[in-house]
Amino acid sequence: MSEPEIHPVPPGFAARAHVDAAAYAATYRRSVEDTEGFWCEQAAFLDWITPFTQVKDTSFALEDLRIRWFADGTLNASHNCIDRHLPAKADVPAILWEGDDPAERRTVTWGELADKVNRLANVLTGLGVRQGDVVTIYLPVIPEAVVAMMACVRIGAVHSVVFSGFSAEALADRIADARAKVLITADEGRRGGRAVPLKRNADRALERERAVAHVVVVRRSGADVPFTPGRDLWYDEAVAAAAPHCPPVAVGAEDPLFILYTSGSTGKPKGLVHTTGGYLVHTGTSWRTIFDWHEGDVFWCTADVGWVTAHTYKIYGPLLNGATSVLFEGVPTWPDSSRWWSIIERYRVNIFYTAPTAIRSLMREGEEPVRRHDLSSLRVLGSVGEPINPEAWRWYHRVVGGGRCPIVDTYWQTETGAVLLTPIPGAVPNKPGRAGKPYFGIRPVVVDAANAELAGPAEGNLCFADSWPAQARTILHDHGRFLRTYFAPFPGRFFTGDGASRDADGYYRISGRVDDVINVSGHRLGTVELESAIASHPAVAEAAVVGYPHPVKGQGVFAYVTLKGGIAESEGLRGEIVTRVRDRIGPIATPDVVQWAPALPKNRAGKILRRILSKAAAGDFADFGDTSTVADPDVVADIVARRRAARVDGAAGVP
Ligand code: WT7
Repeated sequence: MSEPEIHPVPPGFAARAHVDAAAYAATYRRSVEDTEGFWCEQAAFLDWITPFTQVKDTSFALEDLRIRWFADGTLNASHNCIDRHLPAKADVPAILWEGDDPAERRTVTWGELADKVNRLANVLTGLGVRQGDVVTIYLPVIPEAVVAMMACVRIGAVHSVVFSGFSAEALADRIADARAKVLITADEGRRGGRAVPLKRNADRALERERAVAHVVVVRRSGADVPFTPGRDLWYDEAVAAAAPHCPPVAVGAEDPLFILYTSGSTGKPKGLVHTTGGYLVHTGTSWRTIFDWHEGDVFWCTADVGWVTAHTYKIYGPLLNGATSVLFEGVPTWPDSSRWWSIIERYRVNIFYTAPTAIRSLMREGEEPVRRHDLSSLRVLGSVGEPINPEAWRWYHRVVGGGRCPIVDTYWQTETGAVLLTPIPGAVPNKPGRAGKPYFGIRPVVVDAANAELAGPAEGNLCFADSWPAQARTILHDHGRFLRTYFAPFPGRFFTGDGASRDADGYYRISGRVDDVINVSGHRLGTVELESAIASHPAVAEAAVVGYPHPVKGQGVFAYVTLKGGIAESEGLRGEIVTRVRDRIGPIATPDVVQWAPALPKNRAGKILRRILSKAAAGDFADFGDTSTVADPDVVADIVARRRAARVDGAAGVP
């Protein structure tokens, strides 16, 4: 890959930025030489109920894993996110909400947010929710999602937000794993003019998960939905009837704040556990620094509330700082492809944070939909979720940012809780396609397969040498998996699952996952999870799923499917398999290509040779490398012949 050009920090920007080049260098050096001292100062950003006496107690040694930050301190997240802003901001908007339908808009002030949160916290207490209990939240991007999260943490309950695009089965799996007793959902969501049947999905999930005693239902669309008396209650009625004050409880810094599920290299999603003190310190301070937020700025992150991006930088980050943010329920292309740009213009958005896949799809619509709107309010742009290709970066920078906005390409994960690598705007010049440099206190290392640290410009496996406050502490009910996944592969280090290279200037480029995880439109999907969904179809004998380069999604889902003996290949069956995946996981996992494979290439030990399948899916037939391990070479020839005959145009659909 050729060396990208450098975009210097605009001088006017650096002059008013929180961090300039000199401050970055000095603060970074200090933060890794005296990590405790650095984070101790950062922790003053929060209101603590009981001050902590120890900042950091961490070890990445497999036999002695410890990740503890501010451990004996106590605090309350909702107090820090809401109550402390009330004296100055009770009448200032906290949330500027726009529905899927452009005519639907709501402004929620800090005062109104506080009122709803207190009342819903009392409702939850009344339903028997106690400190440490898990509440599952299955809501669209509406203000009530924020209220629900804050109400949980006010009483020390742990929220588990499940993306509203997940299916009933996926929701049921997550409710079961978290052992949630209360579910908060809505009658319906709205996306691109269509209804999303949330209550119906929830009801189906609860047919299986009967331990859920109560369902709080937000009236979002007003649709007539089934209602189970005794179990279900309407949010608006319950909140109106509840007492208006609920004191925030003191929660230990190492008590859980939330659980968030993500896909891994085995079939079962992992419930990452994030704790209170460290997460809030790292989130609140990094949000302000990375986006260079100043009092009065309007922030908009387009992520759905079901992902970590939204937890950290759409909800907790802005709320902790008393910042106004935009919440948008819909999609970028409805009613037309200038929707996002109209929102930026309407709310005078200053800081905009989105994913490369969205930029690529909007780029296809040309510049005209962008030019129709005044985007002069924008000052900082952000990117997250997958590597941004330089072409999309340049379009984002020139067309959306008018050439004047630094782009923060933020690298992090559900597991890391907050950003680890990014070019801090005002401090680190941009290189398109590079996720910049480490955030304060963060020590990235690139290692080879033998865990030897590579110095200087290098390419290898991306690890981190020491802990940071927002790091996930464990996988719910499976600490062994936590150890095996992140700390066993490269002893003494946290392993991200990503490959990366570092250039001579110390910039990192993420090359993508090196494990059995694929990144489809910024969504992380486990290939094993997809394979088990496909294999659950009664006609399927076996399936292998790989990612392939997709012009908009980054990676597409390519499924090789072997049918059971005597079952004929047909378009009908192909459709059923696709539907099966959508039912089992959700529309985000829809296979782009289903290719029939009378057999899968395996070695003599019966292991599927994914390298060959990936290359064939990518249409890269030139060099399969060493195929001498393939038990039956005819199988490979057949895969290649079928792949050559197929039309895979990336956009969608099946060949
Ligand atoms: C994986 C984590 C962090 C919020 C969204 C995704 C990829 C994330 C970048 C980036 C290149 C990135 C990595 C990572 N990724 N950000 N700026 N450049 N790749 O969270 O679902 O936990 O996925 O997303 O592969 O491991 P997630």
